[in-house]
Amino acid sequence: MSIKKLFGKIYENVVAEGAGHDGYCVVKTDEKIIFVKYSVPGDVLNIRLISKKNKVFFGEIVSIVSSGRGRIAHFCNHFGICGGCKWQQLEYNEQLYWKNRLVEDAFKRIGKINCNEWQPIIGATENIAYRNKTEYTFSNKRWLLENEINNENIQLNAAGFHVSGRFDKVLDIEKCYLQDDLANKIRLFIKKYGIENKLSFYDIKQNKGFLRNLIIRNTTLGQWMIVVIIGEENEKQILKLLEETEKQFPAITTIIYGINSKTNDTIYDTQLITYKGNGYIEERLEDLIYRIRPKSFFQTNSLQTLKLYQKVREFANLKGNEIVYDLYCGTGSISLFIAKQCAKVCGIESVQQAVDDAKENAKTNYISNSEFIMGDMRYVLNDEFVEKYGKPNIIITDPPRAGMHPEVVKQILKTEPQLIIYVSCNPSTQARDLQILSEKYYILKTCPVDMFPHTNHVENVTLMEKR
Ligand SMILES: C[S@@+](CC[C@H](N)C(=O)[O-])C[C@H]1O[C@@H](n2cnc3c(N)ncnc32)[C@H](O)[C@@H]1O
Repeated sequence: MSIKKLFGKIYENVVAEGAGHDGYCVVKTDEKIIFVKYSVPGDVLNIRLISKKNKVFFGEIVSIVSSGRGRIAHFCNHFGICGGCKWQQLEYNEQLYWKNRLVEDAFKRIGKINCNEWQPIIGATENIAYRNKTEYTFSNKRWLLENEINNENIQLNAAGFHVSGRFDKVLDIEKCYLQDDLANKIRLFIKKYGIENKLSFYDIKQNKGFLRNLIIRNTTLGQWMIVVIIGEENEKQILKLLEETEKQFPAITTIIYGINSKTNDTIYDTQLITYKGNGYIEERLEDLIYRIRPKSFFQTNSLQTLKLYQKVREFANLKGNEIVYDLYCGTGSISLFIAKQCAKVCGIESVQQAVDDAKENAKTNYISNSEFIMGDMRYVLNDEFVEKYGKPNIIITDPPRAGMHPEVVKQILKTEPQLIIYVSCNPSTQARDLQILSEKYYILKTCPVDMFPHTNHVENVTLMEKR
């Protein structure tokens, strides 16, 4: 039978197994393996085959015959259409169980490596409103729900998130549970103001429209930043909008805006102007204050970041005389967190703005034993670097999802620090790199940390010691 004819085929009473990538479980039939979204391990389901991509089959749930362990009702009205929170149908302790399993499976299956001590995952105490940053898009042609398609009087302007897998479609968000509710109020106000004052909303196909993006950041110190990105220059309109927003929300510490008429949404090359406040907000971790500017990276879950960094420091077991390298240091937040307990810390990072932030944060926290060097890790970390900054006792590495370049892993093996602490947001690439490092290192301890409740993402910290 042709593949097209197979689509729509129903499989009855099949069992979902193993929660994994993007909220899919796997269903094994006699004929094929099918990935089923929003299923829960142990679910007995009737499913429909809907697509095939790169030899992988995908199905959707037609009905649930019986629920798997930990299946609960999702709490968000946008669940299933919005691209976030794909594990809401799974009770939180079950999410933690499966995140632990994801790490263990990656270590065994990909890395084929053993670990002396598996520490239980550090779960989040707050699993709603845990994010300190959300990014919204305005659109003049919002994604229509099934019951809205034939309604000609529907409001098409939207402020929300991209629909899962659709960069060109924006789902209008009424309430998002990821950030404190003030973020909803600010977004809804700006949308309403835009509609009432006939401001145009961004049209992605024509690359025009006044209201384009909104970034909202907050910190546990109660400080709020909004960055309003406008698609078309009109100073009078911009200032009026910001004035009204400021009046409505005195709690916003700093208001920033920028004009972006490019075809992409990135703000890194957009000039940003501060309308109110200092142009930054501050976050506190223990006795350190971090300044966060609109383009600065800061981990998006502040409460769990503290636990993650405490775990890194615990694994480092610093005595005070160590030289530490912090690879892929971002704005130097790990470096600064441990600086007072070691002799010297050297951070390496490829983004100039992040390095500038790191240096500024060192200064404002009176830390004088840190150095931050800008450049691509592959070329910066070499014998001359080690010669110049001193042989490290400990290397902390926190690479992006793709993991470390093989040349970087090679250089770490050559540098031979006593300890390596590997922080990763992708257990698969971490397991790959750890396998290579295990040529000279034992894996002593591993501890996952949940930074992203209701998603399948997990952060993992691993401690290695020289053999
Ligand atoms: C996962 S973040 C780590 C951030 C930091 N450790 C923290 O906790 O805030 C990874 C960082 O690696 C940087 N990066 C990515 N590729 C790089 C490269 N080739 N060389 C140096 N830094 C790189 C990114 O800019 C980003 O700041």
